[in-house]
Amino acid sequence: MIVTRAPGKLYVAGEYAVVEPGEPAVLIAVDRYLTVRLSESTGSGRIRSGEYGSAALEWTRAADGVSMLLEHQSADYVFSALQVVESLRDERGIPARYFDLDISSELDDAQGRKFGLGSSAAVTVAVIEALDQFYGLGLDSIERFKVALLATIRISPNASGGDLAASTFGGWVLYTAPDRAALRRELEAGSVSEALAADAWDLHSVTRLPDPVGLELLVGWTGSPASTNRLVDSVRGNGREATTAHELFLQESRQNVDALVTALQGEDADGVLTRIRTARRLLQQLGESSGIRLETPALTALCDAAEAHGAAGKPSGAGGGDCGIVLVPETVERRQILSAWETHDIRLLDLSVHPPQGAL
Ligand code: MEV
Repeated sequence: MIVTRAPGKLYVAGEYAVVEPGEPAVLIAVDRYLTVRLSESTGSGRIRSGEYGSAALEWTRAADGVSMLLEHQSADYVFSALQVVESLRDERGIPARYFDLDISSELDDAQGRKFGLGSSAAVTVAVIEALDQFYGLGLDSIERFKVALLATIRISPNASGGDLAASTFGGWVLYTAPDRAALRRELEAGSVSEALAADAWDLHSVTRLPDPVGLELLVGWTGSPASTNRLVDSVRGNGREATTAHELFLQESRQNVDALVTALQGEDADGVLTRIRTARRLLQQLGESSGIRLETPALTALCDAAEAHGAAGKPSGAGGGDCGIVLVPETVERRQILSAWETHDIRLLDLSVHPPQGAL
C-alpha cells in the first residue's frame, strides 16, 4: 500500500489579487492533513471518502480514457487528478494498472463541515503524489505541483493554485500564479507533457519565506463554510466593470505583500502585524467595491478581538465564512482574544505551521 498525506493551508495576504497571473500572495501550510491510501486492484478501481458517505465510487478504463461509473460532485478534484496523471502515464508509455484510493481528512469537523483549509487542494496534491509513486513517474515536487494545478483548473478555471503550492511545499511561501487560461488551451490542444513545458508558466513562482519572529499563530473557525468559486467569480465579474477600483486593489495588494515579505525577512514583528491589518482593510475595500460581503459578522468579531488586544487578524482565503488568521506578539496575552472569541462561538483550531518540504 502507498500512503501519502498533504497539509491544509491558510492565506496570510494577497488572496483574490493572486488569481491574476503574476500577482503575489503569502500562504502557510498547517499541520492538519488529508491522507490518501492507494492499493492495487483488478478490473476497476474504487474511490472511498467520508465525503461520499458509504458509497465507493467506481472508475474504469476504456479506449478513450478513464471514466467514473457513478458521478459525485465532491469527487471532481480526485477524478481530475486521476485523469491528468493517467494521461501523463500514457504519454510516457507506462502500462496502465487499476487501484483503489481511500481518502481520510482532518480538514473537516466531526460533522463533515469543512474548515476552509484547502481540502480540494490537499486531496489533489496527495492523490498525485500517490499516483506518482504507484506508476514510478519520478516527478519532483515542482512537477507534482504543476500537474496538480493542471488538474485543478479543469474543475475551477480561476483557481490560482496558491493553496496547492502551500500544500506541496509546506512552511511559509510567496506565490504568483501562471496564466491558467493559456494552460487550459494547451491542455485542450495537446498533451499534459506539452502543458507542463508551456510558456504560460513564465509568470509563476514559489519562494520560501522565514517564519515570523516573536509572533504566535492563532486560527479561529467561524463554523460557516464559504464557497470560494462563487465568491471569486462574483468579485472578478464586478471587478472588470469597475476596472479602476480593481486595478487599485491589485496595486495596493502587491505593495502590501512586498512590504510583508520585507518585514518577515527583516524579523520585523511590528511590520508583519501592520501588513496583516492592511491585508484585512484591502479585503474589506474589495468587498465594498464589488458589493460582495467578504467579512461575515463572525469574521469581524474574530479580527476585531485581535486588533483590540494588540494583535492583527484577517479572514483567510475566500472570506465569506470559514477561518480567520491572527498573529499575536509574544507580549500579548492570547487568553483575552480567546475569551472574546468564545462569546461569538468562534472555535480555536489547534494548528501550527507544517514545516517546509520538497525542493524549490
Ligand atoms: C481562496 O482561498 C483564495 C482566492 O484567492 C482564490 C484563489 O486563490 O484561487 C480567493
